[in-house]
Amino acid sequence: MPDPFSQDEIDLVDEVLSTARSVRRKLDFDKPIPRRVLLDCIDVAVQAPTGIAGENWRFLIVDSAAQKSAIAKIYTQILVNLMEERGMPMKPTHKALIDRLHEIPAMIFVCVDGQPLGETVGSHVGYYGSILPAAWSLMLALRARGLGSTWTTLLSAQQEAVKSILGMPEGAMQTVMLPVGYTKGAVLKRAARLPAQDVTFANRWNEPIGD
Ligand SMILES: Cc1cc2nc3c(=O)[nH]c(=O)nc-3n(C[C@H](O)[C@H](O)[C@H](O)COP(=O)(O)O)c2cc1C
Repeated sequence: MPDPFSQDEIDLVDEVLSTARSVRRKLDFDKPIPRRVLLDCIDVAVQAPTGIAGENWRFLIVDSAAQKSAIAKIYTQILVNLMEERGMPMKPTHKALIDRLHEIPAMIFVCVDGQPLGETVGSHVGYYGSILPAAWSLMLALRARGLGSTWTTLLSAQQEAVKSILGMPEGAMQTVMLPVGYTKGAVLKRAARLPAQDVTFANRWNEPIGD
């Protein structure tokens, strides 16, 4: 690969980075994903930055029917309770995922073999900052291979129940769970977001950056 990249290569990278949308519905629930493909994506994910504790990320690929059903049940319960608590209707896209979550070809849990070292802001920033970049890289690597997923964190509300299903030790944590399948008819577009100029300051907070 040339360095710097060609404009076509930059455009392609930007396209992947900008279109890793949540895919909950337009997934092929019947097409298995070879574990090798997921391992290739994890090999990309572990190129992410990691903090002083080193490579304490662990990934759990769940593709057994019994495990997926048990997880799907907990996920659904958390979501239903949350919507009830907030008095909000469930969005069709969320409903579509819970209806078939037990059939998703794979769930990938992004885990840490360790806990935050304290309650300070710094320890939390270091802890989550050492795992979430890998989770996002994983989602991008999946996207590049035609695999759709969704960044889900709802299961962290039932950390212990999930850990027990996954056989995780006391000192480990699960952070993000990506339900993964090959996309089927999904059109993945850039999201409507504020432009860089509106969210970027020059030198001091609130100083406009200009064009
Ligand atoms: C911190 C965080 C937690 C999220 N948790 C969930 C979740 O548990 N379940 C889910 O379906 N989506 C979850 N999402 C995905 C958002 O709902 C999603 O970003 C939103 O649907 C917008 O769609 P887009 O990602 O395609 O722009 C989460 C996103 C973030 C940033």
